[in-house]
Amino acid sequence: MNILVTGVAGFIGSNFVYYYLEKYKDRKIIGLDKLTYAGNLENLEKLTPEQKERFVFIKGDIKNQELIEYIFETYKIEGIINFAAESHVDRSIHDPQIFLKTNVIGTQTLLNVAKKYWEIDTQKYKDGVKFLQVSTDEVYGSLGPTGYFTEKTPLDPHSPYSASKASADLIVKAYHDTYKMPTNITRCSNNYGPYQFPEKLIPLMINNALNHKELPVYGDGKQIRDWLYVTDHCRAIDLVFENGRTGEVYNIGGHNEKENIYIVKKIIEILREKTGDKEINEKLIKHVKDRLGHDRRYGIDPTKIKEELGWEPEIMFDEGIEKTIEWYLENQDWMKRVISGEYLEFYEKNYGGTK
Ligand code: NAD
Ligand code: TYD
Repeated sequence: MNILVTGVAGFIGSNFVYYYLEKYKDRKIIGLDKLTYAGNLENLEKLTPEQKERFVFIKGDIKNQELIEYIFETYKIEGIINFAAESHVDRSIHDPQIFLKTNVIGTQTLLNVAKKYWEIDTQKYKDGVKFLQVSTDEVYGSLGPTGYFTEKTPLDPHSPYSASKASADLIVKAYHDTYKMPTNITRCSNNYGPYQFPEKLIPLMINNALNHKELPVYGDGKQIRDWLYVTDHCRAIDLVFENGRTGEVYNIGGHNEKENIYIVKKIIEILREKTGDKEINEKLIKHVKDRLGHDRRYGIDPTKIKEELGWEPEIMFDEGIEKTIEWYLENQDWMKRVISGEYLEFYEKNYGGTK
């Protein structure tokens, strides 16, 4: 079986490739990635020689219809998992348009080609052929101090990023409702783990702390995110792709809500303990101007995926954050390479004035 996985050189996509090729020894992944600033082929270098034989990498854009058709034609694609996206809220605030192009038009292009090829053989629908859209809890907007997002919570995105992801979800739904395309949507909470680009909270704070740079906490730092270790997300996606009911949405999260300031202090504590570096301390924390339209709290109700598919998180936060910090300590060269050039420009634009 050949599946097309997009966004394979990014954070979750690359973790998914490792997970999937290890689990299914008779399957092949055709990996498509545009290699934007967030995509890095180095993330896939640790595949074993045998796994590399079951992995084909194609550099390209999910908006390129001709290329997607070529991939379907050549590799007889029997399923798509779409991770490819512009994924950073702060970048979407500075420059929304690329988010609509990639996240909405790109998703629709993939759907359109899948529809064309899969309609030739409608039996395939019954054999479990699927289009899985990797979405986010951010499409539901922001919660007050109580309650959780369920799959029935109305979409209420606030940032250009979350609005583009919500739009993509709606076009996936339309292809299911109109053409009976076999689709699923997963909506996961914030991920953390190896290979996450250091524009996101956890790797950014690790990198800054190691370099004794200020730790820029937006506003009061009491915003809440619901953190999940990346391989728990990958396992959930695999389960939905295999066994999810066609047309359904599945929320993914492990009830691990933490204030941002707690996360930053935890990173300081673990890093200081592991490195013995006393300059890594809370004096580095700097409360900076809040993010525009900053969502206050995310919290996922994962009851549906637990009851229907038996999914539960396996890696609790204390273990996951230790593993993550160890990975970044062991891969400081990786960090140095990804933060050259474009990253510095973005950093200046977003955090100009911090040291
Ligand atoms: P990422 O930014 O690390 O990776 C995105 C990848 O997509 C990169 O490799 C990039 O090169 C590629 N890409 C971007 N535009 C492309 C295009 N036009 N054509 C082909 N490839 C393109 O993002 P991530 O954190 O790995 O997120 C992956 C997916 O999971 C996204 O759809 C995101 O919305 C979703 N998600 C992320 C989180 C999280 O916490 N990171 C949580 C829930 C859902
Ligand atoms: P982020 O990792 O960008 O994920 P998202 O916005 O998709 O949830 O941010 C997580 C939280 O951390 C969010 O509330 C914003 C906050 N944050 C900071 O306080 N400082 C920072 O430098 C960054 C990148 C994020």
